[in-house]
Amino acid sequence: MKILLLLFPLPFLLPFLLGTTSAPPADSPPVQDSQEPGQEEEVGPLEERMLVLKRGMRALRRGLKDPEKDATNLEIVAGMAVAVGEGKLLTPPMLEGIPQEKKEGFLLEYRKSMVSMQMELLKLELALLGGDRDAAKAAYEVLKEMEDAGHERFTQDG
Ligand code: HEM
Repeated sequence: MKILLLLFPLPFLLPFLLGTTSAPPADSPPVQDSQEPGQEEEVGPLEERMLVLKRGMRALRRGLKDPEKDATNLEIVAGMAVAVGEGKLLTPPMLEGIPQEKKEGFLLEYRKSMVSMQMELLKLELALLGGDRDAAKAAYEVLKEMEDAGHERFTQDG
């Protein structure tokens, strides 16, 4: 009985003794996803804007089906337009590997594609403001195509 009493705290102490406790030290920074601290990849300024687009498109995929969500849909679209407006002024990392004589043309094409995207976002905004669901969905589909074409052309891994 004495031994049992002595062993009683063991299950509670075991994680601490083995160093497997899941509680992080109070001063450790929050860890994102499953990455270890220090292993996070740095997100570049353009990628940051692209992530706004990704989140926006994901929300709109369902949101556009629901007129009740149009206030939120409009907010999302406006946020995406800001991200594209800023992103068009940034330099795609792929530029580095482009031969000097082709850099200017590459940047021009990039800028034009991003401006087209701004225009499509405006079309989506107008469609929502006019309550035209078909036009809103059509603009969404065009944006999806622009995403694929833009990545094919302006990112390393297409
Ligand atoms: C709805 C449209 C778009 C979405 C949701 C989107 C989303 C993303 C995401 C999530 C990334 C980062 C990770 C990855 O490579 O998958 C990215 C990177 C990138 N996207 Fe887009 N994108 C869109 C449209 C475009 C367009 C139209 C262009 C070009 C005109 C473009 C150019 C790029 C470039 C250059 C990168 C690399 C950024 C970097 O590494 O810093 N994207 N995009």
